Amino acid sequence: MRTLLVTGAAGFIGANFVRMLVRRQEPVRLIAVDKLTYAGNLANIQDVIDNHRVIFVKGDICDAELMGRLWDQYAIREVVHFAAESHVDRSILGSGPFIQANVVGTQVLLDTARAKGVDRYLQVSTDEVYGTLPEDRPEIKFTEETPLAPNSPYSASKAAADCLVRSYFHTFKLPVLITRCSNNYGPYQFPEKLIPLFVTNLIEGRQVPLYGDGMNVRDWLYVEDHCEAIWAVLNKGRVGEVYNIGGNNEIPNRKITETILDEMGKKWAESVQYVKDRPGHDRRYAIDATKIKRELGWSPRYRFGEAMKTTIQWYHQNENWWRAIKSGEYLQYYNQQYGQR
Ligand code: NAD
Ligand code: DAU
Repeated sequence: MRTLLVTGAAGFIGANFVRMLVRRQEPVRLIAVDKLTYAGNLANIQDVIDNHRVIFVKGDICDAELMGRLWDQYAIREVVHFAAESHVDRSILGSGPFIQANVVGTQVLLDTARAKGVDRYLQVSTDEVYGTLPEDRPEIKFTEETPLAPNSPYSASKAAADCLVRSYFHTFKLPVLITRCSNNYGPYQFPEKLIPLFVTNLIEGRQVPLYGDGMNVRDWLYVEDHCEAIWAVLNKGRVGEVYNIGGNNEIPNRKITETILDEMGKKWAESVQYVKDRPGHDRRYAIDATKIKRELGWSPRYRFGEAMKTTIQWYHQNENWWRAIKSGEYLQYYNQQYGQR
């Protein structure tokens, strides 16, 4: 049976990926590693860990000794690397943890893979490494040839990691793959990100903080579509290649906010508070996903309207999950980011 190391498996996308493979009964054994930072939550995968195909290890990807031991103990031959510090606003408050987890962590994994051997190493990256797009040129989108131009400490750390991955292919012939996806939404997303933050604030009867003029554009993709794309790239992608993943679904933040308010029966005037813009806020992201469609036959399956309804419903039905998060460290961060409210 194939054995995959899945890093960041207790985070939003990692957990959805593990859950998808278990649900489909894919014939793989998963070594699910996570440091359980503020963003990692064992509850995201607890019910599938008992399944003998998922083995959970609490650990730091920067720990070279541990990574080497896992490789030996479980005969790891494939890696899907999700683990990262992932929130742009936190990277603006302090970039140190981003360099450590995203750059050093990736270097440790690459060196371990190189020393111990690997058949496929997939780096889960982001469209943010390409920087920002002009809003008045809708025909321009990010392709795999778009030069890297990261604008936030978060995206700079992800771009640095991508460069390392690329260099291990060229220098050491390590069989790597890189995916670069647009914004995800869905169950288990940490409520610091736009959609779960706004939905849970509204359930709590609070206002939602919209940055700047609310007209920044993101290309939204349901998380399970992203997971399917990663699975397709891991199984069929050409090593050394980058694959962009996106929903062809560009939406300004104001429109996302309206969609959420409509679905939840809330009014704009009393619910939305315009707040100071994010420094260096990228104006527009849009993915050209032609390559992954052409080469691997992947395209999104979920429709935005329906998947948003499912997502909002999930946060309604899982109040215990997010209420447990929205306390403690989260409150400190919230007050620092948005001021006392
Ligand atoms: P997340 O913050 O929800 O989860 C990250 C997980 O990594 C957490 O469980 C955390 O505990 C773990 N982690 C962090 N540092 C670690 C370390 N040193 N060792 C072990 N585990 C560690 O993030 P996410 O939204 O699930 O993103 C997963 C990956 O996908 C990231 O690499 C991110 O850059 C990328 N990505 C995210 C999106 C998105 O919209 N969320 C889009 C494209 C790409
Ligand atoms: O594009 C992929 C990236 O998407 C991933 O690489 C990142 O890990 C992920 O966090 C996400 O980054 P964004 O910065 O685009 O996501 P976020 O949910 O933080 O913000 C989405 C948009 O909403 C962005 O334009 C900023 C805006 N926003 C966000 C927050 C948290 C607000 O207006 N108010 C807010 O409170």
